[in-house]
Formats: sequence, structure tokens, C-alpha cells
Amino acid sequence: MRKRVIQIGKKTGYVHGKVQMMRIKVNKSGRPARMRRVAAVPAAVLAAAVFVSGCGGTSPQRGDGSVRIGVSLYDQYDTFISELMASFNGYVDNRKSEGVDIATIVQDASKSQPAQNEDVAEMIENGCNVLCVNLVDRTAPTEIIDTARKNDIPVIFFNRELVEEDLMQWDKLYYVGADAFQSGTLQGEMATEYFKEHPEEDRNGDGSIQYVVLEGEAGHQDAIIRTEYSVDTMISNGILLDKVGYAIANWNRAQARSKMEQLIDGNGSGIELVLANNDDMALGAIDAYQGRGIPTEEWPAIFGIDGTDTGLEAVIAGTMTGTIYNDKDGQARAMEALAYALASGSSLDNLQLPDGVAMQDNKYIRLPYEKVDMEKAKDYLSK
Ligand code: BGC
Repeated sequence: MRKRVIQIGKKTGYVHGKVQMMRIKVNKSGRPARMRRVAAVPAAVLAAAVFVSGCGGTSPQRGDGSVRIGVSLYDQYDTFISELMASFNGYVDNRKSEGVDIATIVQDASKSQPAQNEDVAEMIENGCNVLCVNLVDRTAPTEIIDTARKNDIPVIFFNRELVEEDLMQWDKLYYVGADAFQSGTLQGEMATEYFKEHPEEDRNGDGSIQYVVLEGEAGHQDAIIRTEYSVDTMISNGILLDKVGYAIANWNRAQARSKMEQLIDGNGSGIELVLANNDDMALGAIDAYQGRGIPTEEWPAIFGIDGTDTGLEAVIAGTMTGTIYNDKDGQARAMEALAYALASGSSLDNLQLPDGVAMQDNKYIRLPYEKVDMEKAKDYLSK
């Protein structure tokens, strides 16, 4: 039985800059269904009923030239993802201002794979003609792939990379992201350069660098690979390393802060390097040193990855030693261009991708990473 739709008189979100009245789907008992998961990021957001009004109708095969993009996020509160989405919305708005009939729906899965599976089915049912999916569990895309395939709706997975065999299940599946190996290698190179330029930062003069790793979510391709390649790159460049601690902090600043406080308490001033899998966790480490009242001259070198706005500011301020830019804007641009081409039936040969970027194997678009020191951080922030 189809869900009824009711409208409540409250401004809740935006579709292409226009404030929408929120409508909530209700289930048979008349209770609002899954309101919690409608993404609430300004300009990225929509309520369930916008599917009905915004996506217009229930047929997935629109055939009227309109582009309706359904986006499902693993967690709308992830800093990197929300910055990527802000860029994505900007590209959609640009296209709209060129007269294209294009609209976006964004759903937040709140870290639940079953919820994401349901959202995807609903977005298709409500007329989206292309999907962008930031998988909750990158090892569990099958239900989404089956639903999309049954309805002939192409899917662009992004940021959380599914295994190749899954991506090969159907020719209308794509991946937009970056090369995790490169991010780890560049972080390792940057840390190597730092210690070669600053031998005095081996504070206890024992010839090796005492380090800790703050790792992202267990099982995420970027977490596993970044840690391994960062450390291996330093070692193969002649830096002797001595691991004194390790913690999983799930990409999260607050978790990283509390884990780092424990590491500081356990090691005193003995930590000379913090390798964080992302900027939010590097910022958590900075919070911990600040919170413990340790003077900045006694802090270790702290490296992040992402180049989020706050991360770049910390590099400029000198509290974060360096970061590796994870090109959120390039990924957003590539994803929007691909989504538009797929939904409008245009050729994929003429995609407007950032300079030097090309689709590989008709499946993958990967944006390169870049090392960001204080000078570069200023350039990025002023872009
Ligand atoms: C980013 C992290 C982010 C994660 C989410 C990674 O590529 O570096 O900051 O939390 O993706 O999937």
C-alpha cells in the first residue's frame, strides 16, 4: 500500500535555494515515517515529499529531458561529505541557471545500511533518474544494485569504494572518488620531508621517530590504505619509526580528541609524530594538546588528510603541520557531470571533468590528491 503524504506548515529545507514546505510521509498508523533521516544540511536537503512534488511522478523512465538526482549520504554530519555536497549543489545550481530542468534530493542514511537501501528504493519509486550513493557499508551494495538494475536507473557510488567485482555487476554502475594509496604515500612523503628538514624534531635524539596513528572507520578503504602507505613510505625513505600508540577514531574530531588525550597521558611528551587518517582527527589531536595545556613548542608534528576548511585554517595557523588535499570540489564536479550525462542520455565521452582527469575503464573517475603546506593552504582557502 502506498504511503499517504501530509504537509506540515514548517520551513525545513531548500531545493536549489528555494525554501520548501516540508511534507512528511506517514505510515498506516498516521505516524511520520523516517523524518530523522532527511538530510538537514542547508541547500542540500529535502523532505520526503519533495520526491512527489520535486521529482514529479512515479515513473523512473522520465523521458521528458528532466534530470532528477537522488543522493544518499552515509552520514550528513561527516565534515568532508558535507563540504563535498556544498560543492555539488553549486554545480547543480550552475546547470540550473543555464536553463536545465534539474533537481536534487538528498537523504541521510544516518549510518544505517537498511535505511539507505530503503531510501534508494523510495527515490527510484518517486522518479529519480540517476542516483549518487555514498554507501554506509561499502561491502554491502547488492540490494541497491539489484533495485537500480531492475528499474534501469544508473548509480554513481562515491567516496566509499565498493569492491571491483560489485562495480562490475552491471554496466550502469560507476565510482567517483580518489586513490587511497596516493593519499597515504603523499602523507608519508610530507612527514619524511619534515623530519629530514627538522632533525631536531627527533626530540629525544634516539634516531627514530615515536609516532601514533589516528585511524578512521574500521573497514573503510581510505583508513586501511592510508595508514599502511603513510608508514611504509616513511620507512622506505629512510626514517626509523617507533610506534607508541594507535587508536580508531572513526573520522571524528571528538573521538580523536579523547583517544589522543589517553595517548598523551600514556606517553607524556614522548610522541613526536601524529599521523591522522583525516583532518577532523588531526584537529581532535590538536584539541587534545590544547586541552592538556601543553605549549605548542612541545607538540609533535601533526599531519591530516582532506584539506577541509577548518583543516586548511589549522595548517595556516601552524597547529597542523600539513595535510593532503582530497579534492572534494573536483569529485563533486565529476559526479554532477556524470549524473547529468547519465540522466539526460548524453555521451560520456564529452564529460566536463577537471583538467587531467579522465574516466577509467568506463567505470572509475578518480581525482588526484595534493600535498598542502602553509603556502598551499592559503591558495586553497582563497579559491
Ligand atoms: C575522508 C574522510 C571522511 C570519509 C567518509 C574519507 O575519504 O578523508 O574525512 O570522513 O571519507 O567516508
